[in-house]
Amino acid sequence: MTRPIVITGFMGCGKSKIARALAQNLNVRFIDLDESITARTGRTPAQLIDEDGEPAFRLIETDTLREVLNAREAGVIALGGGAWIEAANRELINQYGCASVWLDVPFEVCWTRIESGAEDRPLGRTKDQAAALYERRRPVYQLAKTHVSVRGDEELDELLTQINADQKF
Ligand code: S3P
Repeated sequence: MTRPIVITGFMGCGKSKIARALAQNLNVRFIDLDESITARTGRTPAQLIDEDGEPAFRLIETDTLREVLNAREAGVIALGGGAWIEAANRELINQYGCASVWLDVPFEVCWTRIESGAEDRPLGRTKDQAAALYERRRPVYQLAKTHVSVRGDEELDELLTQINADQKF
């Protein structure tokens, strides 16, 4: 294990769950960027977006990502759904020599989870808004080094095997 792995993909694609399991599998530390933001600011990403606006949230997100990478403690990092979309963050991820994995999950699967999930997602409050964002972001997620197509009904182990096979960590 020489370089951190960042897991990206749309809201509801299963980033945190899969990243946590991957870290356990590789026996490395897991960090959830949204949780790091909450720990650092005392507010959740949803609160930051609602109260201060998305641009202010993005600046905090980039600062937190820099801090996490700089600490060199994380083996696997689950990004928030918009973190990879920011060029500054992709540059940081590249600078630190991270592997990047895009969990490519059909929109309807993501939407079902967004809709039923307990988490508040200000950028995905309506289906139309989420669908437009999903389409707009796809070409940027595509820039990740590893592309993993997920149907959404796989066993976790199946996905971990696929990620490990696609990427030489
Ligand atoms: C966002 C996704 C959220 C969170 C914030 C913004 C986005 O994380 O970072 O609400 O821009 O897609 P999840 O992808 O974990 O829902």
